[in-house]
Amino acid sequence: MNNIPYTFGLNAPAYVPSHYDNYIQRRLSDMKGQYLDQGAFAASLSSEDILIYEVYELHRPQIEGEILHGVSIVHPGKVGDEYFMTKGHFHTVLETAEIYFCLSGEGFMVMETPEGETAVEPLSAGRVLYVPPRWAHRSVNSGADDLITFFAYPGNAGHDYGTIEQNGFRKLVIERDGRPAIIDNPRWQA
Ligand code: F6R
Ligand code: ZN
Repeated sequence: MNNIPYTFGLNAPAYVPSHYDNYIQRRLSDMKGQYLDQGAFAASLSSEDILIYEVYELHRPQIEGEILHGVSIVHPGKVGDEYFMTKGHFHTVLETAEIYFCLSGEGFMVMETPEGETAVEPLSAGRVLYVPPRWAHRSVNSGADDLITFFAYPGNAGHDYGTIEQNGFRKLVIERDGRPAIIDNPRWQA
């Protein structure tokens, strides 16, 4: 890996970086156990393993001092009443933060700490969201278009997906009476 400064383009309306090194797709089948309505999940999966979100990453060494960065695109849609969302994770090095800049779309960042504090913050184009150290985070697309965010976080952060896969998030964002509503996750368990 060279170590010279660089720039890349990040332009409307698609906001796909003009240069990237890694491209990740997450489909419905990658979200097993995460949606509240398991019947709707199974029904949806039996008709199509739909693309839920995509991530474009720039490659940097995964060490302290580096800043990993890229773009996350969550597509619009629902499983039952629950909006399309990312898997969500804690950082393995819990004391590492992350910053998100929303480029396009409407949604929420669902967050919680291991101690049980919760926060759900709105995302819309032009808004910056700071995820402090210790907070697990998941983006939720409550809009009709793609939810697109630029993210940056410490190179040594790492990802712990297992805790969320096992316990879920304490809060969910669902559609109720045509609008997003934040509810307690009845299936949350430690
Ligand atoms: C990195 C980060 C984002 C997410 C991306 C996809 O620490 O928070 O880049 O990785 O939004 O979400 P996950 O990783 O939860 O599948
Ligand atoms: Zn993260």
